Amino acid sequence: MEVVVQPDADAAAMLTARLIAARVEAKPDLVLGLATGRTMEAVYQRLATLGVDFSRCRTFNLDEYVGVPTRDEHSYRRYMDGRLFDKINIVKTNTHLLDGMASDLGKEVASYERRIEQAGGIDLQLLGIGEDGHIGFNEPLSALMSRTREKALTPATRRQNAGMFGGDPDRVPARALTMGVGTILDARELLLLATGRAKAAILAKAVEGPITAMISASAIQLHPYCKVILDQDAAGALTQRDYYEWVFQNEPEWQAYRQKTAETFPSNIRAPGIAAGL
Ligand code: GLP
Repeated sequence: MEVVVQPDADAAAMLTARLIAARVEAKPDLVLGLATGRTMEAVYQRLATLGVDFSRCRTFNLDEYVGVPTRDEHSYRRYMDGRLFDKINIVKTNTHLLDGMASDLGKEVASYERRIEQAGGIDLQLLGIGEDGHIGFNEPLSALMSRTREKALTPATRRQNAGMFGGDPDRVPARALTMGVGTILDARELLLLATGRAKAAILAKAVEGPITAMISASAIQLHPYCKVILDQDAAGALTQRDYYEWVFQNEPEWQAYRQKTAETFPSNIRAPGIAAGL
């Protein structure tokens, strides 16, 4: 795993967008796993301006609420169309989301797994993190080998996502369909983005703490190709920040990105107090 701490949330979103763009440029028929939530809005905004050719790309989203029709403004389909798909040259039939209105949810999740497999597997999976440590909607105690399935949401998650439902947690659906932790780990590369102080404590547990089904994001430690992009606030509780900073500043793989970040954010590329002297 590599952890990259950026000066602020904008820089973290931009770096994430650039990494996705680079993967699509290297493999135009990339199979991209996508995430929703407020954190990703800035990524999609940036990604839509980078001039990437998505015409051969296929996408699979992590999750969808149960009982919310596609046309509903709260569906993740509407989220993805409005924030990304309608702004890029992707072919809509190549964009896949779980159907939370399917009459047989068991069949729906099984067919989603099959569709991912038929696409050749996910090349790059984008991830956010919930304040309870979920990835997708893999709430605490989700099996680390779980596959796509229906999950009940915790009261904490419903409170956290209430902003998108007029602030009322009771209006947030109680259940969702989500890729499993095992499904996510099958992707060839993982890219997790977290910004803001509210994520600092759980992020440190997920990245530096023991692997546990109580924090499904801790499973990313098992993945051989995983990058975690953070702003200063989300990185606030990490103990090894100086080392992570040294890797970003010195490893050849990051050189092009270091330069671009410096061009875009010239005044704050090195935040004060971080890795002083390295
Ligand atoms: C939802 C999604 C997750 C996402 C999380 C973070 O719960 N199911 O995939 O990681 O939100 O949301 P936010 O970025 O709004 O904090």
